[in-house]
Amino acid sequence: MIYQASVTAPVNIATLKYWGKRDKDLNLPTNSSISVTLSQNDLRTLTTASTSPDFATDQLWLNGKIESLDTPRTQACLYDLRQLRQQMESKDDTLPKLSQYKLHIVSENNFPTAAGLASSAAGFAALISAIAQLYNLPTSWSDLSKIARKGSGSACRSLFGGFVAWEMGTLANGEDSQAVEVAPLSHWPSLKAAILVVSDDKKDTPSTSGMQLTVRTSELFKYRVENVVPRRFDQMKQAILEKDFPQFANLTMQDSNQFHAVCLDSWPPIFYLNDTSKRIIKLVEKLNHDAQKTIAAYTFDAGPNAVIYYDEANESQVLSALYKHYGHVDGWKGAKEEYGSSGEVDKWSGVSRVILTSIGVGPQVTSESLINEAGLPKNAE
Ligand code: DP6
Repeated sequence: MIYQASVTAPVNIATLKYWGKRDKDLNLPTNSSISVTLSQNDLRTLTTASTSPDFATDQLWLNGKIESLDTPRTQACLYDLRQLRQQMESKDDTLPKLSQYKLHIVSENNFPTAAGLASSAAGFAALISAIAQLYNLPTSWSDLSKIARKGSGSACRSLFGGFVAWEMGTLANGEDSQAVEVAPLSHWPSLKAAILVVSDDKKDTPSTSGMQLTVRTSELFKYRVENVVPRRFDQMKQAILEKDFPQFANLTMQDSNQFHAVCLDSWPPIFYLNDTSKRIIKLVEKLNHDAQKTIAAYTFDAGPNAVIYYDEANESQVLSALYKHYGHVDGWKGAKEEYGSSGEVDKWSGVSRVILTSIGVGPQVTSESLINEAGLPKNAE
């Protein structure tokens, strides 16, 4: 007897960055953050969680390879989910004792992991929602977000679609550090994103250790969390609720820049932007200058890839400007005919592909399963 459930979960890209922990074990942040959930048509993780009295150990297969579940973060998530299931079982004798069985988890991304896009957020969000579905937990999305947070901070925001806030909370046990919806996808469905995947040879400082170095050593960081983020958090929520693109965009760009400034202010300094990233910043600056209003916003996480937000109403202006320099790389899909035929071409190097996407929904239950009748990954057959 195998019990199973499958869920897909999205990637989210912060517009107000999470950078800094006040508690490393519980993954409690030093500031609140805001993100946009991206469409799962282009970027998503599909996870099947299964359990059976016949399984001998907990096991995870990620993109066809066996991976360890034996990390403190993953163990913390599994422990919480089993506890919640166990509470249900203790109240209702008729329920199968799933909390006592081992888990087989199979997970796949629909985008190349090598692209260096934040896959851990979608990965933990899919893992937590698939097990919650398997266990039939009545838990709210915000409560599940507290479990996902222990896996990876930014993962808590992938439990909602649209516009999402991670409220930092003040309690020492983290019970009020959770994700909440600011506005659903339907509020502003015309928001789009173009991701420029920037080629990079060097290994970035992992975000977990990078942010700890910043907390320990940057003076600018103190100013950021005390004086800048609280004000920006309210302003950005307001801009989203009013669908005020220029205000939303300016705050997004300023916050990306300040995040990279506190990285540079860390000791020894951390650099995530490279020359291509900086060239893209200049390109967006020029685009907005020429348009005489802010029609595009760049943002960069702990790596050189650019995410450019824009409203569909300005799509032709924004994509034509990007196409002029990066039209020769993969990923333009149907947009190629539209932006490729007109205008001059001035090829720039440094970008390996574009991903044209839009804002999307939160985790979705699906009937698509990644495991076979033996409880093993289908693609390993
Ligand atoms: C720059 O969520 O990957 O993308 O909590 O240590 O797993 P851990 O860190 P992670 O950090 C993300 C940092 C960021 C900004 C953001 O997504 O808010």
